[in-house]
Amino acid sequence: MILKRPTLLLIERAPPRPLSMQQLLSKDDSASGWRALAPHLGHEVPLQLADLAVFDALAEDEAASRADLSLRFGTERIDYLVDSGLLIGDHADHEPLRLRDRLLKDTGWWTPAAVAHSFGRWQGIDVDADQKRVGKRTLGSLIRQHGPPPPEALELRARQDWLVLPAARKTALDKLLVQRTTCRNFDPEHRLPAADLASLMHRVFAAQATQELAPGAVALKKNSPSGGGLHPIEAYLLVQRVEGVPPGLYHYHSTGHALQVLGLPDADQIAAMAKELVAGQAWFANAPVLVLMAARFKRNFWKYRNHAKAWRVIQLDAGHLSQNLYLTATEMGYGAFITGAINDECAERLFELDGLSTGAIAVCGFGRRIGPPVAVEFDPLGKAVR
Ligand SMILES: Cc1cc2nc3c(=O)[nH]c(=O)nc-3n(C[C@H](O)[C@H](O)[C@H](O)COP(=O)(O)O)c2cc1C
Repeated sequence: MILKRPTLLLIERAPPRPLSMQQLLSKDDSASGWRALAPHLGHEVPLQLADLAVFDALAEDEAASRADLSLRFGTERIDYLVDSGLLIGDHADHEPLRLRDRLLKDTGWWTPAAVAHSFGRWQGIDVDADQKRVGKRTLGSLIRQHGPPPPEALELRARQDWLVLPAARKTALDKLLVQRTTCRNFDPEHRLPAADLASLMHRVFAAQATQELAPGAVALKKNSPSGGGLHPIEAYLLVQRVEGVPPGLYHYHSTGHALQVLGLPDADQIAAMAKELVAGQAWFANAPVLVLMAARFKRNFWKYRNHAKAWRVIQLDAGHLSQNLYLTATEMGYGAFITGAINDECAERLFELDGLSTGAIAVCGFGRRIGPPVAVEFDPLGKAVR
């Protein structure tokens, strides 16, 4: 068998774990070892110090025979590294690992970003159930534990030295902005008119113009900025209640202004999918439309290969799109939300994403707000449209 090391690999000293009584007696110090964070695996693998020599001995893309490595480093450790997927073999079992490793390399990931993305993925998290089980973390308990948060505004100089600005002029945009309030109470009966869905998607996610900047390189002009002008964020829809659009899973085509049907499960299945997607947050799960913002990392990394800023910039792109979605929904008289608490694995499964060249960033949603609120909303000015 031929083995290679992963293209992207981060190894760090593992935080010490409390020793068991047995370990204390046997002087076994394996509780304070090293750990590998390999994005092609997505879970950490405990290492021993001696294992680092194995990776040191293998250059990127260099293959070595399992027999040779076993002779040099011992069969037991090489077996462990192969079984844990940290050494990638040419056998059939490792086909998915080889594919993921190649995908990471071809996509052009910068290692720390790949680690952050891969290890920040959620699977099977249910925030609501967890809160019910262990109790909600109250602000009071946070203050007792950590003291008060840093102050709400940053005071760097004494007030008498401030240059106080004239009162702000207000326009229609301010009126809209103060109405924007994250909605956590959607009307479960209301069906969204298809025309409203179409208008919102067009304003937020459609290309308003296209231009071929070089042969084969087409730039999109959207209503929000995008790092490098690449607009790598795609909109995937989970539709629950829209007139004339069957409940289902869709992708929005940004230049064709069209929905591409990815699946039409029944309404009960769709409701369960929505809940799993937003990690059990029931206050978001019943919105008539949920929009997964997923990044085509490869489109951004085509320009910014192995780049330290590229992944950050993609998160910023999503923030701009989200604000446009909030404001457009608000102008239409609807409520909207964004959540970063999502089950990435569910998003990938529902929308056929490999998670590495294209992966989930956040989920937005919108629909008619119902009142009075049951789930808490932050509307101190009382301006949210109900
Ligand atoms: C990136 C991002 C992620 C968020 N994630 C969640 C979330 O997981 N659950 C939730 O209930 N609200 C979430 N929110 C909404 C915030 O709680 C909300 O914006 C904040 O409380 C301020 O309220 P406002 O949006 O009504 O002004 C998120 C907001 C942002 C910008």
